[in-house]
Amino acid sequence: MSSHILQRVPLVLEYPVAFTRGLFDADNPTLVEILARREPDRRHRAVAVVDAGVAAAWPHLAGSIEAYAARHADRIELLAPPWTVPGGEAAKTAAVLDDLVGRLAALRVDRHAFAIAIGGGAALDVIGFAAATLHRGVRLVRVPTTVLAQNDAGVGVKNGINAHGAKNFLGAFAAPFAVIDDSSFLATLGARDRVAGMAEAVKVALVRDPEFFAWLEDSAGALAAFELPAVERLVRRCAELHLAHIAGGGDPFEQGNARPLDYGHWAAHKLELLTQHELRHGEAVAIGMVLDARYAVEAGLLDETSYARIVALLARLGLPTRHDALRSPALLDGLADFREHLGGDLTITLLSAIGRGVDCRDVRDDLVHRAIAYLA
Ligand SMILES: NC(=O)c1ccc[n+]([C@@H]2O[C@H](COP(=O)([O-])OP(=O)(O)OC[C@H]3O[C@@H](n4cnc5c(N)ncnc54)[C@H](O)[C@@H]3O)[C@@H](O)[C@H]2O)c1
Ligand SMILES: [Zn+2]
Repeated sequence: MSSHILQRVPLVLEYPVAFTRGLFDADNPTLVEILARREPDRRHRAVAVVDAGVAAAWPHLAGSIEAYAARHADRIELLAPPWTVPGGEAAKTAAVLDDLVGRLAALRVDRHAFAIAIGGGAALDVIGFAAATLHRGVRLVRVPTTVLAQNDAGVGVKNGINAHGAKNFLGAFAAPFAVIDDSSFLATLGARDRVAGMAEAVKVALVRDPEFFAWLEDSAGALAAFELPAVERLVRRCAELHLAHIAGGGDPFEQGNARPLDYGHWAAHKLELLTQHELRHGEAVAIGMVLDARYAVEAGLLDETSYARIVALLARLGLPTRHDALRSPALLDGLADFREHLGGDLTITLLSAIGRGVDCRDVRDDLVHRAIAYLA
């Protein structure tokens, strides 16, 4: 004899993603309104943790944050001066995580207090993991400072660190309390980081939104020149599509095998490794997307004209479309790695048209070889 109770807990996740400039200008209401969103009549305890690369590029930032908190002292109690975590992948270690948790614990950050995380995707990932696990979850406000983090890495529900030799090996799914994209931060990005983040916009346009792809083509000159209104529009549309996918894609915590927003990513992950991260993630994604677009042509799914449009757009934005590492025999291992990353059967997304991604479950090595040979 056995019986069971089927436990069912419907959950709604809700968080605002705000867009602004000059977030810490004394009279910008965005942050204070967001902190007070659920409890308008309280003074909210908060800490601010900053990516060291951002802190270096913005030497007055810590002072501005303290001045902002002082100006809004009726709503914000800053528990300590802002402190930094390393920028880039150096942030995503167990040592940085442990240090963060220790500091948050010492400041008695509890489930009602806020951790405000300011930085690139890597810094946000480790701060987010600390916030998700301390007391099983303290409130996290992400302030992404790269194009990639503002349109992709910083707006979703994932966080994590690298461990045991594997990227993002430890982490959790956890929704932030809020995300605030401040485009002013983008001004200090290096030339390669500016463009690299745009690859994710091309990606989401390719699998989801042909009008957005056409807009990217029309705006390629302004985007390559990093004209702020065009960049802001790119970030916003890309973030919207990303958020719509999380909310409406039926798999917010990635339990299935299909991962349309990982278009071009199986080869990209491998290319990043093969070049010892000399290629930025977005640069590797650009090359991976061209490879998978060529594969789709070889498989008879995609027409040559669409393929040529994809390559031309990436090139006009200033992204690479091929690399010598494509010739490495180890590239194909990327498919096996990707299967493991999905945690099940191999499914990759291919294009049947610009704006239309389709699941592909039988990836053929001979066609991958043909696509590689074409590019090389
Ligand atoms: N959680 C997710 O859903 C998700 C999704 C995609 C990627 N990611 C992660 O994001 C990371 C990549 O993020 P990224 O592309 O934002 O780069 P990054 O975080 O590695 O930052 C790149 C460099 O830019 C510096 N920097 C950041 N903002 C700056 C600014 N405004 N001015 C000057 N320098 C600045 C950083 O200090 C760092 O040195 C990877 O670790 C990746 O795994 C996470
Ligand atoms: Zn990506």
